[in-house]
Amino acid sequence: MTVLDRNAASPMAQAQSSGHAPRSISVSLTVNGAPHVLNLDPRSTLLDVLREHLDLTGTKKGCDQGQCGACTVLLDGRRVLSCLSLAITKDGAHVTTIEGLATQGALHPLQQAFIDHDAFQCGYCTSGQICSAVGLIAEGKASTAAEIRELMSGNICRCGAYPNIVAAILQAMGQQAARRS
Ligand code: FES
Ligand code: FES
Repeated sequence: MTVLDRNAASPMAQAQSSGHAPRSISVSLTVNGAPHVLNLDPRSTLLDVLREHLDLTGTKKGCDQGQCGACTVLLDGRRVLSCLSLAITKDGAHVTTIEGLATQGALHPLQQAFIDHDAFQCGYCTSGQICSAVGLIAEGKASTAAEIRELMSGNICRCGAYPNIVAAILQAMGQQAARRS
């Protein structure tokens, strides 16, 4: 098994040791199970890398300031705001976007639940809502509608589909609990 020395040759270490700003830095990312080696402007956010380099436009840019949640993806299984994530600091990470949630042609239970509960109108926030909800369920900290509302409060829906979004998440949570029992 190969053990990587992440400090010695990490993109961030390269940038810091060079003494001047490099024009591009090599970064390895596994996105939706596919490995990528990308030469990136050190200022690139993960959001821009997904959309502009990998054509994964399901992840949306809303505010680009960490305030709306539209850009939420899963980074090593945890929900993050990709507009606030500097890509060169994520070398070696596994990223899952909305495009990577369905498996073998079957929708993720949360994707199906959003359809079942009509949990969107324009759909602009939806990929972020679903990725955030995947992370929320994995965290295991919410079990009631009130807790879901609190822990999903970073994901804004300008169409006001909140009651339907909460209902969809409750459905997916219930299905997961039933599978475990
Ligand atoms: Fe990232 Fe709004 S685009 S939080
Ligand atoms: Fe339009 Fe949420 S469905 S912003």
